[in-house]
Amino acid sequence: MGESLVESSSPIQRRGIVLAGGSGTRLYPVTRAVSKQLMPVYDKPMVYYPISVLMLANIRTILLISTPADLPVFQRLLKDGSQFGIQISYALQPEPRGLAEAYLIGAEFLRGFPSCLILGDNLFYGHNLTSILYQASLRKRGATIFAYRVANPSAYGVVELGPDGKALSLEEKPSKPRSPYAIPGIYFCDERAPAFASRLRPSTRGELEITDLLRFYLEEGSLHVELLGRGTAWMDTGTPDALHEASSFVRAIEHRQGLKVACLEEIAYAKGWIDEEILERQALLYGNSSYGAYLRFLLHSEAGQNSWE
Ligand code: TTP
Repeated sequence: MGESLVESSSPIQRRGIVLAGGSGTRLYPVTRAVSKQLMPVYDKPMVYYPISVLMLANIRTILLISTPADLPVFQRLLKDGSQFGIQISYALQPEPRGLAEAYLIGAEFLRGFPSCLILGDNLFYGHNLTSILYQASLRKRGATIFAYRVANPSAYGVVELGPDGKALSLEEKPSKPRSPYAIPGIYFCDERAPAFASRLRPSTRGELEITDLLRFYLEEGSLHVELLGRGTAWMDTGTPDALHEASSFVRAIEHRQGLKVACLEEIAYAKGWIDEEILERQALLYGNSSYGAYLRFLLHSEAGQNSWE
């Protein structure tokens, strides 16, 4: 490790899991040889975006799960995470047996810690996101999921909400959805998630379903649902069009503001997790790319270290 990690400022040391396996069949032939989550979303690999979300939620201990073919490539890209002021470890998912399998693969890593599971191909951006994530991460008992209105809920896990905003039902890719609210690929669970996951049986499509796991929380009345409003962008990047749109979205924002979305060194530097020396080293590493130029800009700008604490 490049430097010692100070304790997270969050009162609970929640651990993060990035699930970055799967087969990416909707992007074939692009993903025949390269993982979907390593595809560029404009100017950086897709996996940077979910990692940035975990970092914004003050999560600094992260397990990345991927396929036997792709895991070494993620390791080459992200290393031990110290360049971002975090700790990244790695685990294999031999076959895509469902999202809830992440809790079985990560059981030892979680060891009694609450967690945040995020899908490696989900992109979040928006006003108040950091405080929404922070609030969710503070909750000690139960699970927190989000609800996001979409035009095509059948493609997702769907949550039906009562008049009080509480969850009434959960369904996985329903043909007749009971609500327009999809569940984005980010799930905050307490330390019992691996135990619940071990009680799951594969669904008819042969997967351990995250909606089945969340149902344990729903049934005991500890499933919290937060609405993500219109001011938040939630995109998945699983089809050629979605990937293109996500890239265009990031490009438009970055050009307009002159700031980067999901620059991991920027988040780490602003939070005081890495020092100038590491930032400078990273800037050198990325040479004359726009990412390298941005890190050099950060080194000399006012928005410096500890500015996000
Ligand atoms: P999906 O988009 O449902 O599946 P996929 O990525 O394999 O793509 P396709 O449908 O085109 O074949 O998966 C959502 C995310 O979860 C994605 O980042 C891949 C990941 N995933 C796993 O890592 N393991 C799994 O067992 C499953 C089902 C998905």
